[in-house]
Amino acid sequence: MPDEIPTSSRPRGRNWLSYAGAALAACAFFAFLFLFAIDLFAHNGNPYMGILAYVIAPVFLFLGLGLMVFGVWRQRRRARRAGLPVPSKIFARPENGREQALFIIIIAVFALCTAIGSYQSYHVSESVSFCGEACHTPMKPEFTAYKNSPHARVACVECHVGHGAENFVRAKMNGVHQLVGVMMNNYPHPIPTPIRNLRPARETCEECHWPNKFSGNLDRTFQHFLADETNTPFAVRLSLKVGGADSAHGPAGGIHWHVNASNKIEYISADDRRQTIPWVRVTDAKGVVTEYRAPKFNATPTPAAIRTMDCIDCHNRPAHRYASPNDAVDLAISTGAIDRALPWVKSNAVVVLTQTYDTEPHALENISTMLRSKYSSSPQADVLVQAVQNIYSKNFFPEMKADWRAYPENIGHKNWPGCFRCHDGSHAAVNDPKKKIPASDCASCHIFLAQGAGAELEKLNPRGDTFTHIDAPYTDFDCARCHTGAAAKE
Ligand code: HEC
Ligand code: HEC
Ligand code: HEC
Ligand code: HEC
Ligand code: HEC
Ligand code: HEC
Repeated sequence: MPDEIPTSSRPRGRNWLSYAGAALAACAFFAFLFLFAIDLFAHNGNPYMGILAYVIAPVFLFLGLGLMVFGVWRQRRRARRAGLPVPSKIFARPENGREQALFIIIIAVFALCTAIGSYQSYHVSESVSFCGEACHTPMKPEFTAYKNSPHARVACVECHVGHGAENFVRAKMNGVHQLVGVMMNNYPHPIPTPIRNLRPARETCEECHWPNKFSGNLDRTFQHFLADETNTPFAVRLSLKVGGADSAHGPAGGIHWHVNASNKIEYISADDRRQTIPWVRVTDAKGVVTEYRAPKFNATPTPAAIRTMDCIDCHNRPAHRYASPNDAVDLAISTGAIDRALPWVKSNAVVVLTQTYDTEPHALENISTMLRSKYSSSPQADVLVQAVQNIYSKNFFPEMKADWRAYPENIGHKNWPGCFRCHDGSHAAVNDPKKKIPASDCASCHIFLAQGAGAELEKLNPRGDTFTHIDAPYTDFDCARCHTGAAAKE
């Protein structure tokens, strides 16, 4: 019986495979404990920590154990084939003192390397450059826009990866999927938006922006220049009624009423980009439910299609905003990067930026040629070309087909429907068709403190003006049908 054969008579050749497996398993276990401790005691736990500790380390642990078993199996098979007695013990210890010492030293060195390695990979994987630069081409648009955003110092993982067990496994799965996509050069251009499984805003935005905090009114000036020969300045100064979400800190109302803890707003969208919203349901503080429907919408939404409104339904570009040519050129003129004295410069700059190009170098070259042909006699030509090229590089990514056209912005209502998706005056309450989601009353969201140019802008009207669109008073709220971010349609 093979079982009775003493260990010392096992065939020549040590079972190094099993030893290596044991070392690997031991180190993985050690790494797990080490990472677990960091995760537990670290000042601010990092989401990738969880992935390393609970996903990667166990994978290596099982790999090590598997290697041990495989080593034994292989050794036994060899012995059997050679007609030698099959070793009895599943896993024989190294025989003599020297072998044991060697084995322990190897484990110790390996464990030390693992500790350093896992600590390093923890740092690397949490870093912004890992997310933004490691897979350069696909992430270039998001990374560039991010660096120019108010959140440039907030790490990608703060908004994109969760802390809980479910979130990091999900992120891990996504990560593997994305890595395969990048290696096979098989990923969508542009990367689609919205992200279906983004962490809920409760766990991201609200970690820093306490939603109960009272915001009050926000004074914002939107500086524009018309597409005429003199690039006539035109500004709107608004007092935005941002309001608050908790009556303990001030009146709970205004725009942030939607995220008031006691209100729940749910909706469904008819398109992938959430630009058409035919059904909205409000549950207020008292539990009263009001269902609003767009005309002709009679279907019953499936629970899976319903989304609860949160910060991202308005602030969907907090970190990756691709400025439209109209806005980017207005900004450049207002800061002086583009000289307003150049005739038709607003219009011409917007037109060259709006063309479709296949690569960035091609675009930059064309921008240069077209603008130089228009302003060949001006000493300002070089500066202009550089300013427009700079706008292009920061906001347009032809290789990924990523620019403002691909990424709707939902915060206002000028270039995209935004608020108008629900506040278009057509969404009526099912039980009371006269009750609509409020629309058209401009002052429900903001008042016009001042508008125009120069001295006109200094005449503030605290009660609010009516909006004067170019020359005529204006009360149509559907701006996006003419304003697309490029040249406005008549
Ligand atoms: C302040 C929070 C925040 C930070 C920081 C952040 N993102 Fe985003 N990211 C978002 C939001 C919000 C969206 C859009 C989600 C939606 O509409 O569903 C988004 C979308 C994306 C998309 C999908 C394409 C798109 O533009 O909608 C990618 C890819 C992406 N982010 C990558 C990154 C990378 C890489 C970093 C770090 C360099 C990063 N993000 C940092 C909040 C953030
Ligand atoms: C890790 C902290 C952190 C997280 C998470 C975070 N923010 Fe911010 N946010 C900031 C900081 C810091 C600023 C810049 C404040 C400043 O400059 O006044 C900022 C600025 C803003 C602003 C003002 C931007 C402007 O144009 O002035 C908005 C709006 C905003 N965040 C929304 C969001 C939303 C929506 C999310 C979730 C997707 C989010 N933030 C997640 C820290 C954070
Ligand atoms: C109904 C749309 C909507 C929702 C939902 C919403 N916001 Fe806002 N928020 C706005 C608007 C509009 C402003 C005014 C600033 C602007 O227009 O850019 C604003 C302003 C802010 C500001 C102040 C920016 C500054 O420059 O001072 C912060 C911070 C902010 N929101 C964070 C949040 C957070 C966090 C949430 C989720 C809890 C949230 N918002 C939900 C529309 C919304
Ligand atoms: C998903 C649909 C939806 C979107 C998008 C939306 N709202 Fe609303 N909003 C509502 C509903 C529903 C109400 C409450 C109607 C009611 O029952 O009185 C409301 C109410 C309001 C109110 C009145 C709050 C109060 O004090 O009573 C303001 C102000 C407002 N919205 C501003 C905005 C702004 C600004 C935006 C865009 C940044 C926006 N909304 C986008 C659905 C939406
Ligand atoms: C449901 C809320 C809401 C209503 C109603 C509303 N607005 Fe606005 N409006 C906004 C928000 C929010 C912004 C700020 C957008 C941003 O921060 O980019 C804005 C911005 C603007 C701007 C500045 C845009 C720019 O880029 O120059 C103008 C002009 C404007 N609104 C005009 C109007 C007029 C005119 C009406 C009435 C016919 C109206 N709005 C009704 C929410 C509203
Ligand atoms: C019927 C089409 C149409 C509608 C609707 C419309 N606009 Fe305009 N708008 C124009 C045209 C055309 C110009 C002149 C473009 C220029 O000279 O740059 C213009 C100019 C402007 C300007 C100054 C220049 C610029 O490009 O920013 C602002 C600001 C503006 N409109 C805001 C609005 C707002 C806000 C709304 C909705 C409340 C709106 N418009 C609705 C056609 C329209």
